[in-house]
Amino acid sequence: MTENWYTIPMRIGLLTSGGDCAGLNAVMRAFGKTVCALDKAVELYGIADGYAGLCNGEWRKMDSEEFSGILTLGGTILGTSRLPYKKLITSETDKIDAMKANYKKLGLDALIILGGNGTHKTAALLSKEGLNVIGLPKTIDNDIWGTDVTFGFYSAVDVATECIDRLATTAASHRRTMIVEIMGNKSGWLTLYAGVAAGADVILIPEIPYDADKVAEAVKRRFDKKKAFCIVAAAEGAMDKREAQLDKKERERLRAQNGNASARIAAVLSERLQNETRVVVPGHIQRGGSPSPLDRVLCTDMGVYAARLAHDGKFGVTVAMSGGVLTANKLADIAGKTKFVSAEHELVRAAKSIGVSFGD
Ligand code: F6P
Repeated sequence: MTENWYTIPMRIGLLTSGGDCAGLNAVMRAFGKTVCALDKAVELYGIADGYAGLCNGEWRKMDSEEFSGILTLGGTILGTSRLPYKKLITSETDKIDAMKANYKKLGLDALIILGGNGTHKTAALLSKEGLNVIGLPKTIDNDIWGTDVTFGFYSAVDVATECIDRLATTAASHRRTMIVEIMGNKSGWLTLYAGVAAGADVILIPEIPYDADKVAEAVKRRFDKKKAFCIVAAAEGAMDKREAQLDKKERERLRAQNGNASARIAAVLSERLQNETRVVVPGHIQRGGSPSPLDRVLCTDMGVYAARLAHDGKFGVTVAMSGGVLTANKLADIAGKTKFVSAEHELVRAAKSIGVSFGD
C-alpha cells in the first residue's frame, strides 16, 4: 500500500499569540474536535506561549481529550505572548529562521494561528516564507481588517457594558460624572458598542478626536436637565483634536505627562464644571473570564471552518465573517491593515441621533 494522507497523519500545530481574550479555548476546541473527526488522520501539537514557543521549540503533543471541557474556559490553555513584528523584521530576523526551522523539525503540515493584528502580520510573513498557515481572528478590539467581527469582542462588550451599568447606579447616588476607560488604543469598537449598550451620554473614541469644550458642554447639558449622573465612555486611545495633530512620539510624551485618556478628560471636566467626577479603568477585566454565548457560537463556527480549510489544504488565509457568512481572506490582503470605526458608521449615527455626544 502506498503512503498517503490516510496513512501518514497530518501534523497540525496550534498557537495563540498576542493579548488573550475570551474564546481562544472555544475556538481550539471546535478546531480540534472537528479535525479529529474528519477522515484524515491527524496529530495535533500545542505550541507554548505564542510565537515565542515556535522560536524556542516549546510544544507538546495534544490528546483529543484536551479539546473537551474547555468551551467556557477563559484565557488560553497554550499560553500566549507578544513578539513585536517590528523587531522581527529588523534586528530579530533570526527568529523567523528559528520558527521556520522548528516548523520543519516538528514536521508540521499546517500551523493554525489565533491572534490579532500583530499576530496576523507575522502569520502573513510566515506564509510568504512557505509555511502552511491558517489564521483565526481574535481580539476584543474587533479591528482586524476584512471580518465583520472578531472572537472575544462580544464577551468584552458584555463585560464593559456591565461595568458601566454598575457605575451608573453609584454615579446616580452621588450625582457624579463617571468616566469609564474602555480598552482599545487604536480603535474604538469596544467603547462604541459598550457605550451604546449601557446608554453612555458621551462616547469618545480614537477615530473621532474630541473638542474638550464640547465634552464639557455635553456633561453640563445633562446636569442642566436635572439628570442625576453622567456617563462618559472613553476609549483608552481617545484623544482631543490637538493631540490628534501630534506625531506618535509627541503624543506619547503628552500622555506620560498628563496621564491616560480618562485622567485627561477628568482634568478637563473638573476645570470647567462643578460636579464631582470619578474615573474607573476596568482594564484587563475586559479580557478575562468565560466567553459570552454569542462568542461561544462564533468561536465554534470559526474553529470548525478553520478545520475544514486545513482538511482541504487551503492555506495562506484567515477565517473571517462577512455579511454573516464565513469566508477565508488571504493573509497577504489583510495583514498590516486596521479596521477603524468610521465617523459615518451607522452605530455612530444612531447614537448621535439619540443625543449621545462624541465631543466632535
Ligand atoms: O489588543 C487587545 C488589548 O486589550 C488592547 O485593547 C489594549 O490596548 C492592549 O491589548 C493591552 O495590552 P496588554 O495586555 O499587553 O497590556
